[in-house]
Amino acid sequence: MLNHIVDVLADPADLTPLQGADDFTRLVSESGHSYDVARQGYVTLAGGKGLNHEGDSLEMVQSREAFLSHGYFAPFVECVSAAVEDVLERTAAGVDEPVVLEVGAGTGYYLAHTLDSIEGSRGIGLDISVPAAKHLAKSHPRVGAVVADVWERIPVRDSAVHAITVVFAPRNPAEFRRVLADDGEVIVLTADQGHLDELREPLGILGVEQGKLERMLEQAEGHLVPVGEPELIEFPMQLEREAIAAQVGMSPSARHVDPATLQERVAALPERMEVTARAQLVRLRKG
Ligand SMILES: C[S@@+](CC[C@H](N)C(=O)[O-])C[C@H]1O[C@@H](n2cnc3c(N)ncnc32)[C@H](O)[C@@H]1O
Repeated sequence: MLNHIVDVLADPADLTPLQGADDFTRLVSESGHSYDVARQGYVTLAGGKGLNHEGDSLEMVQSREAFLSHGYFAPFVECVSAAVEDVLERTAAGVDEPVVLEVGAGTGYYLAHTLDSIEGSRGIGLDISVPAAKHLAKSHPRVGAVVADVWERIPVRDSAVHAITVVFAPRNPAEFRRVLADDGEVIVLTADQGHLDELREPLGILGVEQGKLERMLEQAEGHLVPVGEPELIEFPMQLEREAIAAQVGMSPSARHVDPATLQERVAALPERMEVTARAQLVRLRKG
């Protein structure tokens, strides 16, 4: 809930501290700006121009929830939580309630698992999508859900966050550097070439571009430096057609191929298929 994390949030207009008002129906800043808390428990923290795009749609969020709830990505969630645990053991030793910021947090699947594994930790789930934020607000008692654009100023106080996690979601290295505690880390899980490869041709869906990881590291230059080498996480999944439909529905392919065509292509697949999951786990810190 927002009361767990309001002390690390900041006014998107000028970064002054925020606090709850009127029984937490609003957050107000020291400079006098006011942001309504939605009845579902999330708050939209956007500066003057508002938000430029909507992020994942309700259908994509529902597909994500359906797919992840079966645990097909368990090795991904385990490695992200383990990396955060490792960071917090060092950086937040002695801190009672360390803060994890998850950017592009979607349904909160990863963040909730991480908070469950780390006693006392609390989380900011940030996403630009309102349907995602509604899920996020319910994902864990110690998650505060914030609708915001990661490419703008992140509505979080300077050096307030001990770990930032980004799973298949956009990044803003300059802002990550600003909000990260001096010895904190950014943990990024990014799809690698070969991810879901068995589905690409039959479904005509997008592949992972070549050089994605290298580009990500280049973008971080001047703001963040890698900690060690990227770790490859690869495992096979046994997916039924329904799970494949959910996987496709939660990915950018949902926007690039007409839904009826996708449905026909999924129906033509075998009832059950082995599909590869493949991603790189990258850790970054302030240089
Ligand atoms: C591929 S999904 C990943 C969701 C979640 N991390 C997971 O793996 O289950 C990408 C997420 O990033 C969000 N997103 C896209 N652009 C964003 C932006 N500019 N700022 C914040 N979130 C954004 C989307 O709404 C979506 O929830």
